[in-house]
Amino acid sequence: MPSTMLANAYNSISNWKSYNISPLLTLDKLKKNLKVKNIFYKDESKRFHLKSFKALGGAYAVEKISKGTRNIIISSATAGNHGRSVAWGAQRLKLRCKIFVSQYVSDARVDEIKKFGAEVIRVKGNYEDSLKECQKLSKKNNWKIVQDVSTKNYKYIPQLTMAGYSIMIKEISKQTNQYITHIFLQAGVGGLAAGIVAGVAKYFKRIPKIIIVEPDKADCVLQSIKDNKLKKIKIKKESIMGGMSCNEMSLVPWQILKNASNCCVSISDKNIAKTVAGLKDKKFSKTSIIGGECAAPGVIALIGLCNNVQAKKFLNIDKKSNILVIGCEGNADVKLYKQLLSKGRK
Ligand SMILES: Cc1ncc(COP(=O)(O)O)c(C=O)c1O
Repeated sequence: MPSTMLANAYNSISNWKSYNISPLLTLDKLKKNLKVKNIFYKDESKRFHLKSFKALGGAYAVEKISKGTRNIIISSATAGNHGRSVAWGAQRLKLRCKIFVSQYVSDARVDEIKKFGAEVIRVKGNYEDSLKECQKLSKKNNWKIVQDVSTKNYKYIPQLTMAGYSIMIKEISKQTNQYITHIFLQAGVGGLAAGIVAGVAKYFKRIPKIIIVEPDKADCVLQSIKDNKLKKIKIKKESIMGGMSCNEMSLVPWQILKNASNCCVSISDKNIAKTVAGLKDKKFSKTSIIGGECAAPGVIALIGLCNNVQAKKFLNIDKKSNILVIGCEGNADVKLYKQLLSKGRK
């Protein structure tokens, strides 16, 4: 990831009208229990009203490739959140936008995309089928595709989305003067994690330990790193962590994470509801936090590793540790969030 790309992303996004730094909270109660110095929680639940860090990626890529013209039509295939960001980015710039979704994307998610004025096209089959249809029609109609997944011949636009994500680290470098020692990063295709690692390389003075967290049902980063090659896995059952339920890494993230990660952790769905409710009910912090199904995994993995003597020692987690977890989404799926809250409180 070129350093100038990261600087450009920050300069652009920080000038958007509704831009605000997202809060860096502290999980003070959890820090006492785990006997570490600090646990920082980057709260993305209010990011540009999209309720997720994804607002930084797709929307920024749309701005970069449109280069001020209104004469293009944007397209994308999505499982939900990325498409929302692209649709919002297109609406900001008054561009027409076509979003392709598979038959498995919920009506609630489709409605969220439509709210930003995009036309949503449903495709029979899974995410890959929706991507193929998007590519076919975009080629035919000369629409500009904005995907967040990179392949051998498609790197620039996904890199832009990752550059957008990296601004979280620029913000954190201004929000605390503590040196972060460990970062827990949730991964689907790895874009968020790689964008953060790129940000760390640019903005932090010391390099923390990087811990990747995935659903055990979709651990494509863990499996790829274990075998030292990009692995496509079979997802037998979709995880409740919907945005992270991916079967193959994106290429650029693979190139970054294979060298940058110190540890990969996979977690089950079991503790998601309890942790979502715990965040809301101040079990970990003095303030109530709205964290969705993809925000909880960082906290779960941190607790799990701290309860494992060997892992804790391997990662040097101790009373001097300043740990960062990324609260990457709020109640982006309102219906699911309510269900998780009530299940987690039982
Ligand atoms: C809402 C959401 N979507 C998707 C992802 C996965 O991001 P990526 O596919 O870039 O790894 C995450 C990661 O935590 C997430 O919180």
